Amino acid sequence: MKKNTIIVGCQWGDEGKGKIVDLLAEKADVVARFQGGANAGHTVIVDGEQYILHLIPSGILHSGKQCYIGNGVVIDPAGLVEELDMLASRGIDASGRLFVSSAANLVMPYHKFIDGAQEKRRGRDGLGTTLRGIGPAYRDKVSRNGIRLCDLFAPDRLRLKLTDRIDQLFANEPADIREKFSVDRMMSTLAEINERLQPLTADVSLALWKHQRAGRSILFEGAQGALLDVDLGTYPFTTSSNTTVGGALTGLGIGPGMIESVIGVVKAYTTRVGAGPFPTELDNELGENLRQKGGEFGASTGRPRRTGWLDLVILRHACRINGIEKLAITKLDVLDGLDKILVCTAYRLNGQELTDVPLDICDMERVNPVYREFAGWSGSVGSLTDYDRLPPEARTYLDFIAGELGAEINIISTGPGRNETIAVSALD
Ligand code: GDP
Ligand code: IMO
Ligand code: MG
Repeated sequence: MKKNTIIVGCQWGDEGKGKIVDLLAEKADVVARFQGGANAGHTVIVDGEQYILHLIPSGILHSGKQCYIGNGVVIDPAGLVEELDMLASRGIDASGRLFVSSAANLVMPYHKFIDGAQEKRRGRDGLGTTLRGIGPAYRDKVSRNGIRLCDLFAPDRLRLKLTDRIDQLFANEPADIREKFSVDRMMSTLAEINERLQPLTADVSLALWKHQRAGRSILFEGAQGALLDVDLGTYPFTTSSNTTVGGALTGLGIGPGMIESVIGVVKAYTTRVGAGPFPTELDNELGENLRQKGGEFGASTGRPRRTGWLDLVILRHACRINGIEKLAITKLDVLDGLDKILVCTAYRLNGQELTDVPLDICDMERVNPVYREFAGWSGSVGSLTDYDRLPPEARTYLDFIAGELGAEINIISTGPGRNETIAVSALD
């Protein structure tokens, strides 16, 4: 019996979750996204073709797999339609196998505007959001002012809700802004795509329960990473959703027993895009080399990602809060050719050594990393598929990570392509 598995990022996002989900989707029946929105950019490369998915689960590239977007995701309806059109134009037919929770909240054009305005107001203290309207959409959801997908199909109710919300948000704004986000405009924008969305709507919680009862296996695809979790990450430099395992339960309406296995995706070094503490950041030539070699530019925004050494303190935190026992290590090939590789094992703060992430962001901003040095390897691990061909230095590096985290490495990714992978243990 195959296990239902959740795939979560263990750092600040962009760990390579898209690649790992695509890889594992071959053996699953169903793939479900549970949180976040189009702030995510999940890259999958198949036969040299690159696909970047923002809302649609990365399992969609396998024909015949059913894909779900849960109530915990905030959906930009126009973005979703665009993504479907992008797939269709490249020969991928999602019809009849992509379903979206009718309880999911929508990202409206005014949410993106507010996201931008808030970032502008914060100035140099900005969070560096993706400007996809994520924070404002989640704010409306929890303050119960949100527009849900099911509202689109009840125009009278939709008009009332929009009127109320837009009045509250824009009553004191200049006329051009009020016109840009007028209720009539919002109604007509939504009416244009209404027909495309209606056939996709579903009760996702119920559908997943039925899949499980029928013995089908489910992959749960996380977005962002543990340190971007709104409760458990480097708040306020986080996103606005629960990116960790708990988010899957509430974001899909499933019980904990449905998740049988947790795989944490870990990039072999660390990256972060946007503002916030990053103790192992390499703000130097070495960091620039990692950025260029690893192609570390945002899949959603194109922004250069900040780069640094692997940080076991944040990874320990990610493993604990997610209950991770299995790891997928990605981008090992990017470390090819380095003389030495450093790994942060602890932080130093006020003369004390910390092995866990300080909860106070002001402390997190002041820590200094304690490093352990490893020898690099000569030759290349790029595209390797056989564990036995890894240089001994690479194995030493991986063994150290697994030992420190008390987890087993199941997958080693040696390149962006689906086949550039070492399956260390059986994948099902
Ligand atoms: P995600 O958001 O976690 O799905 O990750 P992204 O797609 O934003 O970023 C990961 C980037 O690394 C993408 O460009 C992938 O194609 C690429 N990638 C994934 N795994 C590997 C790997 O093992 N080696 C290399 N060189 N690139 C990889
Ligand atoms: P995937 O799923 C990396 C970051 C933003 C910013 C912070 C808040 O591809 O790993 P938001 O727009 O969510 O309000 O931005 O979170 N961020 C990500 N960083 N990968 C992501 O997604 C991210 N989604 C949001 O850069 O720092
Ligand atoms: Mg990404």
